[in-house]
Amino acid sequence: MRLVIVSNRLPISLEEQDGKIVAKESVGGLATGLNSYLDSLDQDSQFNEDPLWIGWPGMYLDDPDRFDFSSRIMGKFRICPVNLTDAQMDSFYLGFCNSTLWPLFHYFPSYVEFDESSWDSYVEVNDIFRQVVESVLQPDDVVWVHDYQIMLLPEMIRRNRPDVSIGYFLHIPFPSYEIFRLLPSIWRTRLLQGLLGSDLIGFHTYDYSQHFLRSVSAILGLEHNLGKIMVGDRLAKVDTFPMGIDYNKYAQAAKDERTQTEKEELRQSFGSAKIMLSIDRLDYSKGIANRLQGYEKFLELYPQWHDRVILMLVVVPSRTGVGKYQEMKKQIDELVGAINGRFGKLNWTPIIYQYTTYPLRELTMLYDISDVALVTPLRDGMNLIAKEYIAAKTENKGVLVLSETAGAAIEMGETLIVNANSVLDIAETILRALETPDEEQARVMVLLKDRMERFDVNHWAEDFMNSMLLIKSEQERME
Ligand code: G6P
Repeated sequence: MRLVIVSNRLPISLEEQDGKIVAKESVGGLATGLNSYLDSLDQDSQFNEDPLWIGWPGMYLDDPDRFDFSSRIMGKFRICPVNLTDAQMDSFYLGFCNSTLWPLFHYFPSYVEFDESSWDSYVEVNDIFRQVVESVLQPDDVVWVHDYQIMLLPEMIRRNRPDVSIGYFLHIPFPSYEIFRLLPSIWRTRLLQGLLGSDLIGFHTYDYSQHFLRSVSAILGLEHNLGKIMVGDRLAKVDTFPMGIDYNKYAQAAKDERTQTEKEELRQSFGSAKIMLSIDRLDYSKGIANRLQGYEKFLELYPQWHDRVILMLVVVPSRTGVGKYQEMKKQIDELVGAINGRFGKLNWTPIIYQYTTYPLRELTMLYDISDVALVTPLRDGMNLIAKEYIAAKTENKGVLVLSETAGAAIEMGETLIVNANSVLDIAETILRALETPDEEQARVMVLLKDRMERFDVNHWAEDFMNSMLLIKSEQERME
């Protein structure tokens, strides 16, 4: 049996540098998480062939031979590119995916663009994905489709290949019916039908599953029984699978001797000041501006903390072609400048700001050195940064401030939970985090570490795959 993963973005993104094509690791929870799962698959698993990953390689290749797609990637799996032109990517990726679905599903309805031509591109590009999948599909393959960019794909594959096993997982929130119904009738109907082409449809949280089921009932008139739905004469199942991280990868990278030495050096350069970390892809859903305003409020209310705290703000470039993301970048730049200008002194800068991507080892160093991590998205499907922070802690110290509107908050209720819309709540919670006694830090950290280690990314993927087997055997019993 072979596992075929399909996602918009491959785990590597190609770039042209000095006339050559180079591959870099992709950013974002989906690519990092799945990559780790494939890494862990061994001979004992149900998949006895090299997995195949189908997706967009990050750029249009006029000549696909400019990159060797035939060799194994990172020694573990093979990839198959979906070559999309810049015009297709503009209208599909910058357009329907990230100017319609992304803002709507993250509860930013006023940011949503309703553009017929970008919907047409979405249908067209999903069909291009279908053609690539069909061209490589073998009889025993299990196809696992990921995320909002290819929601029509399961049904498109099913139409020509009714026999194939298809799973689907949504990495972002599925919004409440009241939000989802804002989409024009044809779009919302086709999106739901698209997903129902799968045998199993997975979401991060129980609420997202319920939202989906409610939309299926209200829009398609299909009812469910404990998440099971009859789609024609085929059974499909909806269930919850909270995604974990590759716990050991983060824990090991943090413990590395070089990481520890660098951490000590950096620590000394900060003296006794407490370090707070904020790290996200640049995205309005991450609540970076609110977080900065919360920090500003904190500095205003508690001047005794001036000189004694530093915010390390890391913003990872993302979707730079979308207007709203460009505006966001400008807003963050201005806020950082204003806060540093207002409170900074010759010997103290309140915010150290970097607009960059960190490699794994340095990233774990930042997690480990930070006394507090501020993870305050306005809306987030899961948020794996919160989990990575816990995994990378080499001592049982550190406090996580986590937004109640991140999927991760459901599994991490012992942390300091905050309403990311409230600047005052953020300011007060920063104070609580900085004043948390060591014993309390250790108590929570031990609990969370244990949980994050047990429910890691492999647990998530295996759980999903086992549910696929169960639903398949139930379908067979019904025949
Ligand atoms: C989120 C989405 C992923 C996406 C990632 C990076 O995690 O759920 O599907 O790949 O962001 O975004 P990008 O647009 O660069 O692929």
